[in-house]
Amino acid sequence: MSSIPKIIIPRTPKFEVPPTISESLEPGEREPLRARIRDLLREKDAVLIAHYYTDPDIQLLAEETGGYVSDSLDMARFGHEHEATTLVVAGVRFMGETAKILNPEKRVLMPELQAECSLDLGCPPKEFAEFCDRHPDRTVVVYANTSAAVKARADWMVTSSVAVDIVRFLHERGEKILWAPDKYLGDYVQRQSGADMILWNGSCIVHEEFKSLELEDMRRRYPDAKILVHPESPEAVIRQADVVGSTTQLIKAAQALDARRFIVATDKGIFHKMQKAAPGKEFIEAPTAGRGATCRSCAHCPWMAMNGLRNLEHALVTGSGEVFVDEDIRVQAVVPIQRMLEFAMTRKKQVLGASDA
Ligand code: 13P
Ligand code: SF4
Repeated sequence: MSSIPKIIIPRTPKFEVPPTISESLEPGEREPLRARIRDLLREKDAVLIAHYYTDPDIQLLAEETGGYVSDSLDMARFGHEHEATTLVVAGVRFMGETAKILNPEKRVLMPELQAECSLDLGCPPKEFAEFCDRHPDRTVVVYANTSAAVKARADWMVTSSVAVDIVRFLHERGEKILWAPDKYLGDYVQRQSGADMILWNGSCIVHEEFKSLELEDMRRRYPDAKILVHPESPEAVIRQADVVGSTTQLIKAAQALDARRFIVATDKGIFHKMQKAAPGKEFIEAPTAGRGATCRSCAHCPWMAMNGLRNLEHALVTGSGEVFVDEDIRVQAVVPIQRMLEFAMTRKKQVLGASDA
């Protein structure tokens, strides 16, 4: 723990949050659609890579067809290592952009290009560049949930699964950090690493709705439950966690921990995979409503919900939803992403080496 002061930029750009509307299919529509998408993936030499927050139908299709469902770090890694010439990324735009930045020779499609992320929208490249210019002595670390142009300005990109390790590593090298855009994750990373950090004032509209007082009430109702929290959540929620981690880390914890019941503070799309990974265990949504709550997302990301079977099929048939990244930006943005991938790979080898020894 450290008490190093942080500066938070007191400004969040305004943007529209769409209502959360998941696709509703007519009876009898699902199976033929799934079959067509399977055929199309084969015909187009395409692989489907999905995030855990997407619809279970999409996650199942990814797994049945040799694709992948994971957190944002492993989605990037999988797409980079896969031999398919087309990557179909079901998630939000920064995930498709990251795939394109790493694989310029591949076609990257998304079911819905308007699938944004409040963190990305809340960190416009121009304002971010001005922020960086005011702090030239700091190493710029950005979260994956940013545009290609913001990544192009960064020294490092991180995802929630490696953020603490990377910032701790930089801190131990004596570097001071400029962090963007998630203030809650940044605050958590700062507390864990003790690094000198200044933070951009961004947040995830889904995770910031988890309510700490109502969570305390819920814990009293389920005293046997373990609490799993994504670090995009507010500090008072994180403080109550038994495990804080990326989506993959939370699923692994649900499997590994000796508990029958879990309260989960992240997008409820994760329950599909959690239930499969830990059958027989009970998962309860952490509270988003209650005193003072507006519940804009109610624990489900409106942009992730835009991914459906219909627009996935449409993208494969028409090539719509293709992701393009300006080449000048791409060549700069690939540097911080590759740094993170190499760091994560080295860390993984060290952990495996230590467990072999
Ligand atoms: P993960 O990298 O943990 O999957 O998080 C991505 C995300 O957008 C969480 O809201
Ligand atoms: Fe962005 Fe939050 Fe949606 Fe994740 S859940 S994609 S951080 S808005």
